[in-house]
Amino acid sequence: MAFSWKDLKRPILALAPMAGYTDTAYRQLIKGIEPRVICFTEFTSADGIVHNSKMTLKQLDFNPNEERPLVAQIFGKRPENFATAAKVIEDMGIDALDINMGCPAKKVVSSDHGSALLKDPCKAMAIVEATVKATKLPVSVKTRIGTNELDLPWFIQFCKDLESAGAQLITIHGRTAKQMYLGKANWDAIYEIKRHVSIPVIGNGDIKNVKDAQEKLGNLDGVMVGRGTMGNPWVMAEIAAAFNGEDYTAPQTYKEKLPTYIRHAELLVQYKGEEHGMKEMRKHFVHLIRGFDGASEARAQVVQISTLEEAKTVLYGLLDRIPDTPARETLAYFN
Ligand SMILES: Cc1cc2nc3c(=O)[nH]c(=O)nc-3n(C[C@H](O)[C@H](O)[C@H](O)COP(=O)(O)O)c2cc1C
Repeated sequence: MAFSWKDLKRPILALAPMAGYTDTAYRQLIKGIEPRVICFTEFTSADGIVHNSKMTLKQLDFNPNEERPLVAQIFGKRPENFATAAKVIEDMGIDALDINMGCPAKKVVSSDHGSALLKDPCKAMAIVEATVKATKLPVSVKTRIGTNELDLPWFIQFCKDLESAGAQLITIHGRTAKQMYLGKANWDAIYEIKRHVSIPVIGNGDIKNVKDAQEKLGNLDGVMVGRGTMGNPWVMAEIAAAFNGEDYTAPQTYKEKLPTYIRHAELLVQYKGEEHGMKEMRKHFVHLIRGFDGASEARAQVVQISTLEEAKTVLYGLLDRIPDTPARETLAYFN
């Protein structure tokens, strides 16, 4: 059956698109722990897809047996390129398409991509319309609550226009683009949008644990979690269990968590080769040890790992230095 946001069981639990993180290995790691999560790809260039860029298309690698339903997120500024990219994505067998209207990174905004589209609503709507027209896949939008500051009446209209243009779901990160990751996400603004549109709304920003997810859900259709999964992919299983009234006990100690990260490394090496894969894996290992006593001393060693064998030696070697107690809860910081 074709994927549809409308028909998904509520509350929806989504893995946030995160460039440099949520590749196929990360998504398989998450889905292996909690199959009910809806995964988004890293943002992928519509222009790159149109130009058949090998690097761009590689970003859309996925495992159809493990990751469904998968949402491909694309960014760009040319409606015609979104339309072409949508067809390519549909032909790849991906289940849904999401348009990035939230990325605040300088490089992205200066090319009029990502959150720059909030400044050009006509273009934003033209992009949604062109994409919806080009594909049978459900099209959604992920955005922030504004560029420089929140102007709620304006933002409500923006979201209503997205709905009229054919968006079937909106995900809102409760910060402005200017805030990057500073301050706290404003969930009240997200709840207010939900009152004004008929399509489903997913809220996003600062969920670290089950309690955050339960408290922030409010009137929304679901929540999206990004940084909270770094070093703690099990948070998704904890949240899904709580949403469904089930019990779930997550691994707590370094010793309990380590085998999953070795598995993650093996997956990443399988997709990206040992040299590239292990370089990328270093940051995931840093997240794994974050919050444990002894992490700062271990970090220097972890960021030098370059082979799978070395990873096993170094990381299992740390068992002597990292106490068998739970990690302190922290959220990775990205400004
Ligand atoms: C390293 C990193 C990369 C990100 N890449 C993307 C991206 O490609 N597309 C996107 O829409 N948002 C991206 N985001 C934003 C996240 O999807 C999410 O909106 C944000 O991190 C807030 O949620 P959180 O507090 O649960 O992390 C990225 C965030 C981080 C930290």
